[in-house]
Amino acid sequence: PALSQFADPLPVPLSINLSDSLHQHLTLGAYKIMQKLHRDLSATPMYAFGASQLSASVPGPTLLATQHVPAYVRWENHIDDPTHILSVDKSIHWANPTHGGVPIVVHLHGGEVDSASDGHPDAWFTYKGDTGSSFSSLNHTYINEQLPMALWYHDHTIGITRLNVVAGLSGMYIITSQAEGEILPVGLPLVIQDKQFYEDGTINFPEIGIIPSYHENWCPEYYGDTMLANGKIWPYFKVLPQAYRFRILNACNARFLILSLDNPDVYFYQIGTDGGLLADPLNLTSITMAPAERVDVVIDFSGLANGASVILNNSGPTPFPSGDIYQMPPATYAIVKFIVDEEDGYTEGILDADYMSKMNFTSVLEEEKAMSEEDVVGSRFLEVVEWDDNNHMPLIFTLDNRTWEDAVVQTPIEGTTEIWELMNLRINAHPIHIHLVQFQVLNQQSFVGNSTLLSTCSFDIAYGEEGTCFIEAPREPYAYQRGWKDTVITWPATVTRVLIRFTQRDGSAFAFDPSKGPGYAWHCHIVDHEDNVMMRPFQVTPNNT
Ligand code: C2O
Ligand code: CU
Repeated sequence: PALSQFADPLPVPLSINLSDSLHQHLTLGAYKIMQKLHRDLSATPMYAFGASQLSASVPGPTLLATQHVPAYVRWENHIDDPTHILSVDKSIHWANPTHGGVPIVVHLHGGEVDSASDGHPDAWFTYKGDTGSSFSSLNHTYINEQLPMALWYHDHTIGITRLNVVAGLSGMYIITSQAEGEILPVGLPLVIQDKQFYEDGTINFPEIGIIPSYHENWCPEYYGDTMLANGKIWPYFKVLPQAYRFRILNACNARFLILSLDNPDVYFYQIGTDGGLLADPLNLTSITMAPAERVDVVIDFSGLANGASVILNNSGPTPFPSGDIYQMPPATYAIVKFIVDEEDGYTEGILDADYMSKMNFTSVLEEEKAMSEEDVVGSRFLEVVEWDDNNHMPLIFTLDNRTWEDAVVQTPIEGTTEIWELMNLRINAHPIHIHLVQFQVLNQQSFVGNSTLLSTCSFDIAYGEEGTCFIEAPREPYAYQRGWKDTVITWPATVTRVLIRFTQRDGSAFAFDPSKGPGYAWHCHIVDHEDNVMMRPFQVTPNNT
């Protein structure tokens, strides 16, 4: 359907403060709802989180937590559809509940939580009471011991995460602290997704697979032709001529975003990454975001006249980065239009006029303990691969040449520091997410991308020596990959080395036993890949020394 841009105002999702006594024990459910995504589009059947059917929305409510104040969320499944609103590919290893219905399980992405509360992919449950092999309870404990940062919660059910997420099962979860509150407002969530629709308003998701004889309807990447922010298609947002803090989330299934502003007088000031505030904020003209990454940015409209407007644009090619931007539907360039309105501009999320003098976050970050390469106990060499058929069409994607069902191999010892060398042997980028921890990008190093050449050279030989596969010395991470991360873009024909310490950020042990329970996952966050089978389990081994 042809839909006009900037017809609807940007909604700001309802926020629920988990630290006030009324909501410290909160029940949220997944419901089937009808949501108007655009003025001229019929309401869309979706799955959504909310405290009730009536308040459920896409994205779900923003859960606002306070550091050191635990919260207890009971997640219920009220979706009584006999089958999913989108086509399930039954050839993929998926939940497959005995009594049908729509399985869900909720993962807090970026959360330092015990594995029974982590939303393990096999801990799914249905309305009728079927459960996956790792299910233990509807009740999840979020201890909120980590530093202030923007997380998000989303479905993580084995084999249908891509369907549940595109159908609406996600929302933001923001941890703040008193120290942070003294310098910064919590800011406004900006949840970006792409989708495609049929004329009747229902979501258009592929029903025929890329190789239907192999996978009935699985396709390697879902790209929509409309962009949504906070659950509206191409909205506008009225702002005051002031600076706002936005917590941007790329919640797309597969689309990488390269964000920019179309007015040279307005720029992004990036103050945080996935894992919280940056010690050194960055002044940027564009921001690259893979699915699941978050950026914390200030956008300053104070130099603009009343009535002036700025469009937040996207120029991320699909697939990323090899795709041809000129083949992108032009409609996916624009995301949201900010309009300066002195009378009617939004009044929350605003920074003080002298905010620049306050951009020192040491009071918030004081508990950091830097990771050091000297502490590394070992490296893991992990391949990021696609298995093709004879026509170079992807059959499955894998990590470490294994699938979800293969035995656990990654068993880091709690308290130790490791390097994971994520070696992307493909022609496109994959965003790799590791549960439980925040890590740092150590470096990146490109190698000969040609599979014939690869068989004639070695990764054991350092760059500069004869016979090496590397074509450059290890290089610094890109500016937008600095800081603490839980999801990292692994570029094609590149080894991305990340430094991970299996502790809290201050170096102390987790406040729960991470070796108990069903364990954690690490995976590609192109959710279409994750579902087909680019996901691996990992277990933390207790430190007995
Ligand atoms: Cu955002 Cu394992 O997921
Ligand atoms: Cu991938």
